[in-house]
Amino acid sequence: MKKIILTGDRPTGRLHIGHYVGSLKNRVEIQNKGQCDEMYIMIADAQALTDNADNPEKIRENIMEVALDYLSVGLDPSRVTIFIQSHVSALTELTFYYSNLVTVSRLQRNPTVKNEIKLRNFEANIPVGFFTYPISQAADITAFKANIVPVGEDQLPMIEQAREIVHAFNRVYKKDVLVKPEAVLPETEAALRLPGTDGNAKMSKSLGNCIYLADPKEEVERKIMGMYTDPDHIHVSDPGKVENNTVFTYLDAFSTEKDFQKFLPEYKNLDELKNHYRRGGVGDVKIKKFLLNIMEEILTPIRERRKYYEARIDEVYSILEEGSKHASEVANKTLQEVKEAMKINYFEDRELLETYRQKYAGNKEEN
Ligand code: TRP
Repeated sequence: MKKIILTGDRPTGRLHIGHYVGSLKNRVEIQNKGQCDEMYIMIADAQALTDNADNPEKIRENIMEVALDYLSVGLDPSRVTIFIQSHVSALTELTFYYSNLVTVSRLQRNPTVKNEIKLRNFEANIPVGFFTYPISQAADITAFKANIVPVGEDQLPMIEQAREIVHAFNRVYKKDVLVKPEAVLPETEAALRLPGTDGNAKMSKSLGNCIYLADPKEEVERKIMGMYTDPDHIHVSDPGKVENNTVFTYLDAFSTEKDFQKFLPEYKNLDELKNHYRRGGVGDVKIKKFLLNIMEEILTPIRERRKYYEARIDEVYSILEEGSKHASEVANKTLQEVKEAMKINYFEDRELLETYRQKYAGNKEEN
């Protein structure tokens, strides 16, 4: 079976290293190793508008930021299709048809939506578009017949709901038109839920606790040097805790044995460093500097590519436009198949015209 990947991000802000280690890195690896037949990366602006209806500017600005982030991590538009959700109109049509196959109570049970409603204080005033975005997400995925959807843990209920919609559609319309997607999560626990630099479980712009892919070196250094460690680890000689020590959580997510050879050769791997830290004798500045070196190793080429594309904004614009065109063609094809299965493809279905002809053939014109 063909391997088709679709994934995307809401353009509500710049992408940060949490996005990188949790998803972007993996996309680039799949691309470079040729591990899939088609890959679609969607800038989910329509979904972002479901809870930002009054702030379209924010979404518009961030479309370019996210596009630049994609290109700077090394996603290659000649190998992957990068597109803008709102410019693939088949997605909204599919959403409308799928919504007949989903009940309100099923949407109410979606834990991610539930949680987001609470976070946004929407309880009494949930926008319908927001409430139904899992259906639109099912359209995003199925329009491309994607069977693999790399996402974070919070998106599992969306994929589950998409699978149910596929199942219902194929059953009701008696045709295997849609493909059931599989979610793929990041491999390491730390990469799954990277905390903010202040140790807060959530990374957010307002908390100022994220390292952005576009941050200059001084900014990264400032954030890492100010990172939360073990508050009881005061003197270098004190024993330290590595659990809930943000620097170690980051090292769990980012460090490799190669990094040890290159930047900290007195230890073979993270376990050795952790053991020494626990016993006492390792200073926080040392582990922070190590993390900074690793971060810079990752971020330097990303920054360089960003500069390249920032100097060629017209090119980025055409990448998005071409990508959206290509995505539309693919999605339109699925929409056609969907309409055919639902028998609402009136003008393409000659048989249907023939049925009508015969049905009314007996009725003679009066003259
Ligand atoms: N909901 C995803 C997020 O918040 C973005 C998204 C929209 C998505 N449609 C998708 C992800 C389809 C995977 C597949 O990050």
